[in-house]
Amino acid sequence: MAKKLNAKLTKLLKYYSLINHNLILSNKTINRYKSNNSSNQNLKTLSLEKLRKSLRNINNCDLKNNATNLVFSDGNPNSRIMIIGEGPGANEDKEGLPFVGRAGQLLDKMLNAINLDRDKVYIANIIPWRPPANRKPTEEEINICLPFVHKHVELVNPSILVLLGAIAAKAFYKTDNGITQIRGNWKNISVGNIKNLKSIAIFHPAFLLRQPARKREAWEDLKKIKMEIDQNT
Ligand code: URA
Repeated sequence: MAKKLNAKLTKLLKYYSLINHNLILSNKTINRYKSNNSSNQNLKTLSLEKLRKSLRNINNCDLKNNATNLVFSDGNPNSRIMIIGEGPGANEDKEGLPFVGRAGQLLDKMLNAINLDRDKVYIANIIPWRPPANRKPTEEEINICLPFVHKHVELVNPSILVLLGAIAAKAFYKTDNGITQIRGNWKNISVGNIKNLKSIAIFHPAFLLRQPARKREAWEDLKKIKMEIDQNT
């Protein structure tokens, strides 16, 4: 169902770009020499659909064969804030959307606490298919998926990248340090053609559900993110 809808949406967007829908739906003059925001956004939507399709077509990751759905993303692809989690659980696998289970509910609360919600951020995962029985993804699985995640970040082109938990932080930072050491520090990273992307790792909401005493540190990190958003985005 979701796949059919996506295919339809891609076709529709291609059709709209082809017929130059701006001309039909708006009586504003069109500057043909400068790229305008809405055509950039359409292009981004198309590129993200292409990326979703290439993930759907890969055949070197067994996780895909055991999963019900590809869990690609949720939220606003034009947001300045991109959040990367670990990988889908049972609820996400069923619905084809990231963070819709208990950890997702806590993530929503964390976002709300700093005036954000799913329309104001864009969310994806390191691994887009549920690992069987919710086991941790292997290094091999992470390495297979990582180029797609990098491309995903490049296409969304956020100002701030928030890495949820150890798996996402280690995948981006290539460090053996634990999340307790890594979290809460701004780090400029290069991702694809993006140089100096401001990133921060924070505790994963699933970890906070298991260890609620760590919510105090998570709150400190969320405040840092809010301050950065207020000052620089
Ligand atoms: N945990 C994650 O890391 N991602 C999800 O999508 C859900 C739970």
